[in-house]
Amino acid sequence: MYVSSLKLTNFRNFEQAEFSFDREKTAIWADNARGKSNLLEALYFLVLSKSGRGAKDRDVLHWGADYFALEAEIMREDHAFPIRIAYDPRVGKKQAFVNHASLPRLSDLIGEFNAVLFSPEDVDLVLREPAQRRRILDILVSQSSASYLSDLELYMRALAQRNRLLKDRGRALLSQPEQMFPWNTQLAELGGRIVAHRLRALEDIELLLNTYYQEIAPTSEKLKALYRSPVTLDDIDEGQSILERALAEKLPQEVELRYTLTGPHRDNLVFTLDNKAAHQFASKGQLKSVLLSWKLAEATFLEKKTGWRPVLLMDDIFSELDPKRSEALLNMIPAFGQIILTSARDPDLDFKAQGFHVLEL
Ligand SMILES: Nc1ncnc2c1ncn2[C@@H]1O[C@H](COP(=O)(O)OP(=O)(O)O)[C@@H](O)[C@H]1O
Ligand SMILES: [Mg+2]
Repeated sequence: MYVSSLKLTNFRNFEQAEFSFDREKTAIWADNARGKSNLLEALYFLVLSKSGRGAKDRDVLHWGADYFALEAEIMREDHAFPIRIAYDPRVGKKQAFVNHASLPRLSDLIGEFNAVLFSPEDVDLVLREPAQRRRILDILVSQSSASYLSDLELYMRALAQRNRLLKDRGRALLSQPEQMFPWNTQLAELGGRIVAHRLRALEDIELLLNTYYQEIAPTSEKLKALYRSPVTLDDIDEGQSILERALAEKLPQEVELRYTLTGPHRDNLVFTLDNKAAHQFASKGQLKSVLLSWKLAEATFLEKKTGWRPVLLMDDIFSELDPKRSEALLNMIPAFGQIILTSARDPDLDFKAQGFHVLEL
């Protein structure tokens, strides 16, 4: 699958703009602050119906504008179809369209256009913060399962309500723990499904992740991704009861802290290089290679799950990567589908010679 064009209206720094992409390789080439990252963010917005950088809809709206719209033409085999997202805060509404027909839910857009986004701002964030590491895991699973995002949203809503109850009632709950039961059941049911999806996805990409790391980084150190949770692959089918029990057991601590202590929102994804935690010990260059390997593994995982090669959106991949790693990466690209990458102007990088269609901003 590939994207042949994108039209932006009032998205970030673009008031009105239209771009065409090569079916294989496009390089977006511009000085800083011209909108390279914004353009990839816009493309990725059409994948998950929200910003892959975690920005709010209001923040991506062009300053002073009333609404924004993004429209892309997607090619699947020889079949072209438009997809569109429009957001208008005056009516507080975001709406998705495929083939000009409005979709009942935003989540129905998932699967129409598959892409993987690598952004360098994630390197520090993702690899150093547990919440951000969970986010990249959620992004990995979301595109392969339509129910995953809605489970996650329901889970976060139920979690907020349970936390509210802990805040409002505090220790009084210890004499009436049954007040928590409906929340525990709901959280354990949704949480069990979420954790199962995460564990299975990680099992699927485990080998790929290390293979890609070995290709990018000229080293023999071994990359692993470990998921720390009360539920493991071996007892994946008992996830719900394990979580329900843990929720009941932790209540005395929770009424003190007034916060829910068990569940997928507390699980930890840890990357290790030769068994040492990457977020503690790895250099910036190593972390970047870890995240690149993860994203390439995500692309292969999605291709296996959906039957379509996702589009690779790679923001500023060559900055801070030594020439050896950059070259290794360029050599790997042909094994994937369409790639759209960005780069700051750099006389040493000759994308035209590498067969790229070059778009200047
Ligand atoms: N909501 C917005 N409306 C208008 N301009 C914005 C908005 N959000 C960001 N920008 C502008 O976009 C520019 C940055 O674009 P970016 O894609 O990060 O550049 P690049 O990746 O090419 O360095 C900045 O000048 C910033 O002020
Ligand atoms: Mg940028």
